[in-house]
Amino acid sequence: MRTLGTMAETAAFQATAPSPVILVPTMGALHAGHAALIDAARARAGRNGTVIVSIFVNPTQFGPNEDLAKYPRTMEADLEMCSTHGADAVFAPTADEMYPPGDSTFVDETKLSRGLCGAQRPGHFRGVCTVVAKLFNIIRPDAAIFGEKDYQQLAIVRRMARDLFFNLEIIGHPTVREADGLAMSSRNRYLDADERKRAAAFPAALSTAAQENDPGQIMAKATALITNGTGSAPQYVELVDAETLAPLAPLAALERPAVLAAAVKIGETRLIDNVRLAPRHAKV
Ligand code: PAJ
Repeated sequence: MRTLGTMAETAAFQATAPSPVILVPTMGALHAGHAALIDAARARAGRNGTVIVSIFVNPTQFGPNEDLAKYPRTMEADLEMCSTHGADAVFAPTADEMYPPGDSTFVDETKLSRGLCGAQRPGHFRGVCTVVAKLFNIIRPDAAIFGEKDYQQLAIVRRMARDLFFNLEIIGHPTVREADGLAMSSRNRYLDADERKRAAAFPAALSTAAQENDPGQIMAKATALITNGTGSAPQYVELVDAETLAPLAPLAALERPAVLAAAVKIGETRLIDNVRLAPRHAKV
């Protein structure tokens, strides 16, 4: 496995890399959720194609009061995991390589970014779109894989790729969970033992609430179950259209794919999760 640090090295590697080239963008601190994405990339690339994992803690997607400085950095273990799961190369640039001093250009998706996490983390998705666009331009992959755990991010990256004519496929991968249902996340390691126990009530609340009849009942039940089960009121609970992320009205019919998405802060740790709802057909 090659480790690439600069754009020049990466361009040289990519020039002779056998197609298809599949990219898995990450911020490192890799866990079994990331490993599943790398496995899926390997399967998609086949034996002869090329899997590239990027590891870059992207400063522009962190707000001023967020955890950029203390975000976990575990490069040695990350490289080991990438190699074990069959990556051909890891692209791990410095911040100056990705953001040359004096740069002044960003990529801003202006609709899907507004609600959900975007409403609480101003500038977050501008940072995500900017770094992902740069990665696409440097690595020129045929496809890139993103997790459904960050559902809004996946929908925004799809929209950006479509709107800016990036010639690649965006592949979504189902959320990988711990045995008790908690979605795997690099931030789970911030939870202490008591918080970790309470966190398990979060995904359970979402799947139970998703059984209710209409959007209003689903959101009300999710809010109540999250609050009771985790001991914290959710930062948001929203039932949205799976493609446009437009919020559904309390009595709207569930006739298109929808996503129940929520965020909750347990102690100092902010967790997000979501469940997908298949369209329901009126009973006759
Ligand atoms: P990061 O949080 O490291 O996640 C990298 C990729 O792994 C994302 O596509 C994310 O959705 C996916 N992922 C994380 N936990 C997962 C889980 N439990 N199941 C399935 N997939 C999971 O998301 C980012 O980094 C950054 O915003 C990035 C896209 C790299 C841009 O900086």
